[in-house]
Amino acid sequence: MNSVRNAAMPCFDLEGKIALVTGAGANGGIGHAIALGYARAGARMAIADCDAAGLAQTSAEIGRLGEAPLAINCDISDPVQVAEMFETLSCELGSVDVLVNVPFFFPARVRPHELELADWERMLAVNLTGYFLCCREALRVMLAAGGGTIINIGSNAGELALGRGAMPYSCAKAAVHQMTRELAVEYASADIRVNALLPAQTLTPGLRAHLDTPRFRDHVLPRILAGLPQGRLLDPEDYVGPAIFLASDAARAVNGVLLPVDGGNLAMNAGGSHTWPAS
Ligand SMILES: NC(=O)c1ccc[n+]([C@@H]2O[C@H](COP(=O)([O-])OP(=O)(O)OC[C@H]3O[C@@H](n4cnc5c(N)ncnc54)[C@H](O)[C@@H]3O)[C@@H](O)[C@H]2O)c1
Repeated sequence: MNSVRNAAMPCFDLEGKIALVTGAGANGGIGHAIALGYARAGARMAIADCDAAGLAQTSAEIGRLGEAPLAINCDISDPVQVAEMFETLSCELGSVDVLVNVPFFFPARVRPHELELADWERMLAVNLTGYFLCCREALRVMLAAGGGTIINIGSNAGELALGRGAMPYSCAKAAVHQMTRELAVEYASADIRVNALLPAQTLTPGLRAHLDTPRFRDHVLPRILAGLPQGRLLDPEDYVGPAIFLASDAARAVNGVLLPVDGGNLAMNAGGSHTWPAS
């Protein structure tokens, strides 16, 4: 029995795979957690970010686990930098089996009727066009190699409206979700799988910074928690297992899936009560 169980397990690891995680700067965010998780799962790592200091820190952390990663300073909204990143990747590591797109640019909440065109364009440049540019380069490499897998980080905001000044971000994420489905169908016959993880409100340093402000703690946080049936904010570590699964051979027939990792947020009827027993 044990040998049967053990024989089934290795397909969940990433041994022998080369993985690139963009947005992996060490700021306590989701990309940082996934990059470290992939290294622990045995992947040969490449990491990218536009934050050089954060990138160096993640690089050192992965190095302490074993092999130092290939660290590439890259702004994913710049097509030249993205092409150069994949060129470096090909020269240094030969190929890429797994791409995880994580970066996120959301400078401030703005009401849509006050939004400047330049700000709309900048949000789409990183959160949508940047994902396309990385997917395009990865697809070229994966087509030449005969297969691979891409994981886009989407958002609950790409499925349902937040209604709090996040419209360009939500639109970008909705488009990333549809890009995921389109690419999944178009490249399935080339043995390339494309999926997305859809986070909900996560305790990253960005959110942690608000926890001490009375307005956030007393008014905003209770509303956020009311939408999270597990009764807690997500943690960056919550995404590591699902990201390993989607990249691994265990998910070899999982393609075009938008997988919420949200504690039940998207499953919940916002108008209903999820408290039981009623008191
Ligand atoms: N944190 C949440 O509550 C939450 C909720 C839903 C979805 N998400 C999604 O999860 C992903 C990660 O979120 P996070 O909160 O961990 O983000 P984060 O801000 O903590 O980290 C994002 C990383 O992307 C990097 N980055 C930003 N612009 C870049 C660019 N142009 N090129 C390269 N790197 C760039 C940043 O330097 C940073 O290291 C994002 O796609 C976000 O939209 C997050």
